[in-house]
Amino acid sequence: MPKSLFASIAALAMVATACATAPPVPEGADPILDRGRTVWANSCASCHGVAGGGAKGPKLNEGAVLVSYPLVEDQIELVTTGRNAMPGFAGRLSEADIEAVVRYTQEVLAVTE
Ligand code: HEC
Repeated sequence: MPKSLFASIAALAMVATACATAPPVPEGADPILDRGRTVWANSCASCHGVAGGGAKGPKLNEGAVLVSYPLVEDQIELVTTGRNAMPGFAGRLSEADIEAVVRYTQEVLAVTE
């Protein structure tokens, strides 16, 4: 296979992988955000889109979650108790995991395009 074709395929594969994974936590950031990213991928991405672009649940990225939930504690309350078709996660996730995922949405997802 010609080298350039191989490079194009490799680049495409990387783009595909990037689309299918939750936005990464910047290096050196608080490790709680890595935990939040894992919780996001397992418990939230199915409804909100892996990058938070919205699907069954509303869009949270590109600053959207910071408009609706500027305060971490308010979003923790929402994720714990739920609202309409948004399930409550009390009893399904620990308080530490809820705090981690909320901080991930506010500090990583919200600032991702
Ligand atoms: C079963 C699908 C589903 C799952 C799983 C889910 N959500 Fe939601 N989420 C929704 C829906 C639907 C709404 C809109 C609720 C409403 O209309 O009141 C929502 C609303 C929200 C909102 C408020 C958005 C706004 O603009 O008002 C936030 C924040 C949120 N979800 C975060 C999360 C987080 C964090 C998780 C994972 C712990 C999660 N959601 C898991 C469906 C889901």
